[in-house]
Amino acid sequence: MNKRLKVINVVGARPNFMKIAPLIREMNKRKDHIEHILIHTGQHYDFGLSDNIFKQLEIPEPDINLGVGSCSHAEQTGKIMIEFEKVILQNQPDLIVVVGDVNSTIACALVASKLGVRVAHVEAGLRSFDRTMPEEINRILTDAISDFLFTTEESANENLKREGIPLGKIFFVGNVMIDTLVDCLHKIEDNGLPFDDLKNGEYAVITLHRPSNVDDPEVLGNILEAFHSISKKIKLVIPLHPRTLKNIESFGIKNKIEKIKKNGIITGPIGYLEMLRLNKSARLVITDSGGVQEETTYLGIPCITMRENTERPSTIQMGTNVLVGNDLDALFMNFEKIMSNGYKGGRIPPLWDGKVSERIVEVLFRMMD
Ligand code: UD1
Repeated sequence: MNKRLKVINVVGARPNFMKIAPLIREMNKRKDHIEHILIHTGQHYDFGLSDNIFKQLEIPEPDINLGVGSCSHAEQTGKIMIEFEKVILQNQPDLIVVVGDVNSTIACALVASKLGVRVAHVEAGLRSFDRTMPEEINRILTDAISDFLFTTEESANENLKREGIPLGKIFFVGNVMIDTLVDCLHKIEDNGLPFDDLKNGEYAVITLHRPSNVDDPEVLGNILEAFHSISKKIKLVIPLHPRTLKNIESFGIKNKIEKIKKNGIITGPIGYLEMLRLNKSARLVITDSGGVQEETTYLGIPCITMRENTERPSTIQMGTNVLVGNDLDALFMNFEKIMSNGYKGGRIPPLWDGKVSERIVEVLFRMMD
């Protein structure tokens, strides 16, 4: 390649950061051929959800922060588009890289695509087939307008083919988030657990933030009651997402959290490294996050997912994940299985090997020539 490839990398929300970190590192290795800048849309702005994770993952300060903050989906997406268009016009990149499925992902992909700038989507093709999830809409639309679709698992390849995406645009490279996990596992080798009174294998980690679990007072109330019952059998660690905390307060159900505190640690969002230290030594994890389903599969830790569906079926077919939705009986049943060592084992899906960013940058380099 004669001229340097000019790339804009985009992040907006917490789950984007672990995906962009290894890509930036890999692009830095090819500085002679790739120049890149980082744009943070500002979708997440809390220290715990953003700055702290940037520091821990050694992601450089964003070159530009669009500072959009929290608002309705339309407003957030619209604001990002207006601001990102200016960035593209000013910088004239050859390519933008978007990751995951958050509002920032579709907003920036749409702007770039209409300005004739090529779009690479990392973590393409995942489908929950549930269009009530904002992320599902973001995924379908981003994939439809992307030029390079990097997939994490076989189901994603099948989904994209079924949607008529030309085969030449699909690159099965594996899960880039696992690059970060593998890298950070070395960093935390000698560290203990992030909270004093925890013992290896004798606690459960819980994360919950999806609208389907936390936006309805009755649903959230029942889930917290279930966690209280579980806390009688095992210590819980619950780093609360700001959305979940806000709802607990506005629904007037803080008392349910107080009850869990008798045998539980309730905190705000924690850093990536603390979360990894927690997850890797937990007896089990209960979550509604996408990324946590994959991280627990990699770590071999049992994971109960409180969703009706998953866009990451390899975590169920091959990994340690099980879906229970809002069915609290199913939650208890799987919990008991794990506690009595009757739960399934798992294996790591293909190409989740820590070398994914290398493959992605190699493809981009080759294809953009
Ligand atoms: C977003 C993503 C979701 C991802 C999650 C990880 C979309 C549609 N959703 O959901 O896919 O799993 O991030 O965290 O993009 N808030 C703060 N501080 C912040 C950011 C948000 O307090 O820094 C609060 C605000 O009250 C806001 C609410 O959280 O209204 C929701 O934030 P938003 O960015 O809209 O979506 P998330 O639920 O974080």
